[in-house]
Amino acid sequence: MTGSPQTTHPVTIRPASPDDAPEVAPLIDMAGGGVYRFLLDGLVPGMEPAEMLMPGLAGSSGSFSHRQIGVAEAGGRVVGVAHAYPVDWMRMEDHSGLPPDRMAHLEPFHGTQDWGSYFLSALAVEPDYRRRGIAGRLMQWVYGRARDGGYDRLTLHVWADNEAARSFYASEGFEETARAPIAWHERLPHLGGSILLSRSTRL
Ligand SMILES: CC(C)(COP(=O)(O)OP(=O)(O)OC[C@H]1O[C@@H](n2cnc3c(N)ncnc32)[C@H](O)[C@@H]1OP(=O)(O)O)[C@@H](O)C(=O)NCCC(=O)NCCS
Repeated sequence: MTGSPQTTHPVTIRPASPDDAPEVAPLIDMAGGGVYRFLLDGLVPGMEPAEMLMPGLAGSSGSFSHRQIGVAEAGGRVVGVAHAYPVDWMRMEDHSGLPPDRMAHLEPFHGTQDWGSYFLSALAVEPDYRRRGIAGRLMQWVYGRARDGGYDRLTLHVWADNEAARSFYASEGFEETARAPIAWHERLPHLGGSILLSRSTRL
């Protein structure tokens, strides 16, 4: 097997714990392709967006809790995350602390959601661990959670210009169901907006 020595550790998939928050937060931030920085940057002076995600991740309630996250662990470190929950929970989220102009820019996300589905909010694997099937294993964990909750389909948003992720989701059997025309912004420089993908949880 190729790769740096650390990547030879066996990989375990398990539910996240509160103590994982510091390692999970940067991976969630990475999965968002800049959306967390776009939303949170500058709101708490001196604090990075990933740090601002940590209290929610360490907590036990809400869509951002570690309870909605599966991790891939290797050599005692978190090297991958999947974050998923019922999409309808978004309707109960409190966004009052977020700038209205930034929320308005992202409104097309909301307008294209497939209400009633289970939603993959984030998926990321550290660069040194990619192309080893870890994301595929994390997705199996997510499909199982969705099925256990009675959900027949999993949906997600992927940036149209994220070719690696689109190839990955195609290999998992996802298909495009809608496009969210989120405009290019200097702090969120994506071309082509975001694509809503969907897949049965029972394939
Ligand atoms: C997308 C991502 C999660 C894939 O993780 P991964 O662990 O490398 O994926 P897997 O090893 O399970 O890949 C399974 C299959 O997906 C496809 N795939 C994965 N990465 C790919 C890439 N960069 N280019 C083309 N196909 C790819 C391949 O078919 C691959 O099978 P193969 O390696 O036998 O060819 C990872 O690239 C990542 O973390 N990217 C940054 C964060 C991100 O963009 N997240 C998605 C947000 S919507």
